[in-house]
Order: sequence, then structure tokens, then C-alpha cells
Amino acid sequence: MSPSATVQTKDAIAPHGGILVNRILSPAQKQAWLARADQLPRVTLDERAVSDLELIAIGGFSPLTGFMGQADYERVVEEMYLSNGLPWSIPITLSVSAEVAAPLEIGQTIRLDNAAGQFLGILELTEKYTYDKRREARCVYRTEDDKHPGVKVVYEQGEVNLAGPIWLLERHPHPQFPNYCIDPVDSRALFRAKGWRTIVGFQTRNPIHRAHEYIQKCALEIVDGLFLHPLVGATKEDDIPADVRMRCYEIMLEHYFPKDRVILAINPAAMRYAGPREAIFHALVRKNYGCTHFIVGRDHAGVGDYYGTYDAQQIFDEFDPGALGIIPLKFEHAFYCTRTQSMATSKTSPSKPEERIHLSGTKVREMLRRGELPPPEFSRPEVAAELARAMRQPQLRP
Ligand code: ADX
Repeated sequence: MSPSATVQTKDAIAPHGGILVNRILSPAQKQAWLARADQLPRVTLDERAVSDLELIAIGGFSPLTGFMGQADYERVVEEMYLSNGLPWSIPITLSVSAEVAAPLEIGQTIRLDNAAGQFLGILELTEKYTYDKRREARCVYRTEDDKHPGVKVVYEQGEVNLAGPIWLLERHPHPQFPNYCIDPVDSRALFRAKGWRTIVGFQTRNPIHRAHEYIQKCALEIVDGLFLHPLVGATKEDDIPADVRMRCYEIMLEHYFPKDRVILAINPAAMRYAGPREAIFHALVRKNYGCTHFIVGRDHAGVGDYYGTYDAQQIFDEFDPGALGIIPLKFEHAFYCTRTQSMATSKTSPSKPEERIHLSGTKVREMLRRGELPPPEFSRPEVAAELARAMRQPQLRP
């Protein structure tokens, strides 16, 4: 096995580290590992680790070729750099309990299964190491509070990290969204085919509202194309499910966007809710998908009151822009301004606070639960109707 990677010279931007990682086995290699499947030691991955495995394999996490070893882990947690000096802000680790780790030997090839026992990929085990969860929480999430959903996941993880290069047996289209499963190699090809030289990426985990639409369109005014990249991996329980959010996006593309300027694709990643650190990570992942610019609005990837409204923008100033490569497009808190009767921010509107219509995600969910529709100043009516329809399904009511 040797890493097969392609240098994309004609792309608008190179992948992080210069090479788009490809860790998907060839059909012949896959058959060879399947034949040995029953002899390999097994580790079961949770939902987040499955999406991390996938993202490493498809190059979304380039230059990573596997789960992080201790040198990378320590430097990422403490300094936001990989040991090779490239910026990287979130640890990508495979944590297991001490009992699971004990019999595994360095040098072994481990079979990686999902929770249903399906053989997904392999790990060439190079290291096992323990780590300090509280320090990870403090450095990466800026809090040790176990009520923070990202910190909670860290505290629930096993105490040993398994590290080493991985291989994915086979790339399957996403079961729910096969048509939107556009991997970095595909998005780069699409951007080239469209002749786009500047592409803005948009991360989101919430149903699209008019402030999202406003900042997407402001960005689109100055670049060639918009890459709408909703995250569909694990999110916290009270977030709106990905299929509902994707339907809202389909509705928006049908009615409110020029189709030839927008590509909708899924980001299979899990949400960390790490605010500023996650904004850097989100940007680097979109760089790997071929985006030259990335939108960072208010409280990007935040949760509760853990981060300041613009912390996720300010953190970009801690890096050499050339080392990040992708350019952040920073937007202030957008709202509907009743005085100018348009979407705006405090940079463009003279309105007083009472002339600004903005609703929090929590407030919208409460309204929908009461059977009320969010107002047209907040949500496009077709999207509001779709959310109301989804909320009537009992499994969506928290
Ligand atoms: S996130 O966790 O993925 O950041 P969300 O889907 O709500 O949550 O946000 C997607 C992007 O839109 C983020 O960059 C966020 O900062 C931005 N954003 C959300 N709401 C607003 C708003 N009212 N004004 C400006 N930016 C916003």
C-alpha cells in the first residue's frame, strides 16, 4: 500500500499541506483485507470517529493520514499547530478504554468497525498514549464545564488514544444524501469545470434563515461561487436533524438562489461546538474541498455563552494568513432592519435595537413547538412551512 495522492495544480487553492490525501483502498486491497477480516483485532468506532475516519480517507482532513499521534496531539492542543508546523486547531483522535487498548500491540493492523459491526477500515497502530481530558477541554473548548456538549464528549471518551495511519475499505455514498455526497476531489473538479477561481465555503448546522442567506449573498457578490456545506455528522440532541435542514436548503436553492452560482454538498463531520478553534478547523477543511474563502459570522460554532460573539473571527488574527491559505470573510450579527426594510448589520443600518428582528435558534424551536411560524423577516415562508411540517413529527419534539 502506498498513499495515492494527486497534486492539483490547476485548482484555485492547494489542499492544506499541498497534497490531497486519499486513503481509500483499491478494490484488490479491499478484498485482501476482507479475506483477513476475522483474524484482525477489532475496535468499534462511535459516530464521530466514523466520520473522522471518512474525512481523513477522502482528504477532507489533509494533511492528516490517520488518527493523531502524541506529538501532533500535544502541539495541536497547546499551540494549534501540527508537529510539522502547519496550523491545525482540533485534535483528531481515536479514544478507547484502557481495557480495549491493553491487548493491542504497536505494529498491529486493527480492524475498525462501526457500531453495527461493519468492517469500515483499518488502523496501522503506531502509538497508544494517555491524555489529560481537562487540559484538552480547557485549551480546545476554553472551558472545563461538562455541560458544554463538546467537553461532555471528551469526558465520556476512553482514556487511551490509538494513533496511526488509516485506510478506508470502500467509499460508500452517504445513505441519506447520496446526491450531495461531494468529496474534496469532486468539489475541486466541479470548481475547475465551472471555471471558478474564488469560492466561498459556508459551514452550518442550523436551518437556513435570512441572516444566513444575507451573509451568503454578500459573500457571493465578491466571489465566483458559493459552496454550501451543511454539517450532517453528529450534532447535539436538540439541533434540528440534518434531513430537515437539507430540505430547507433545497427549497432555498429552488426559489432564492441562482442555481449556477451555488453548489450544495454535505460535510460528513461531527460538530464539536468548539467556537473559535472550530472556526479555524472548519476553514481548513473547506480549503481542502477547494474553497478560497470562508464565511465566519457571529458566534461561529458556538454554544450557550461559552464564547464571545466575535471570538471565532478574532482567532484568525493569531495565524499568518499565508499559513492558513483560506481567507476568512467576517460578518457582523445580521438582522432584519424594520427602518430600512432590509437585511443589515450595525455596519450598514442606523436602526435602534427595537427596530431589529432577530431570533435565536432556541426561540425559533419554541415557536415551532407552539405551532407558530417564524416571521418572514426571519425565515423565508417556504422554509418556515417546512420546519413547521417537520416539527409536527413526534420524534423531532424534544
Ligand atoms: S454554526 O455552529 O455552524 O456556526 P449556524 O448554522 O447558525 O451555526 O451558523 C452558520 C454560519 O452563519 C456561521 O458562520 C455563523 O457565524 C453565521 N451566522 C449565523 N447567524 C448569523 C447572524 N444572525 N448574523 C451573522 N452571522 C450569522
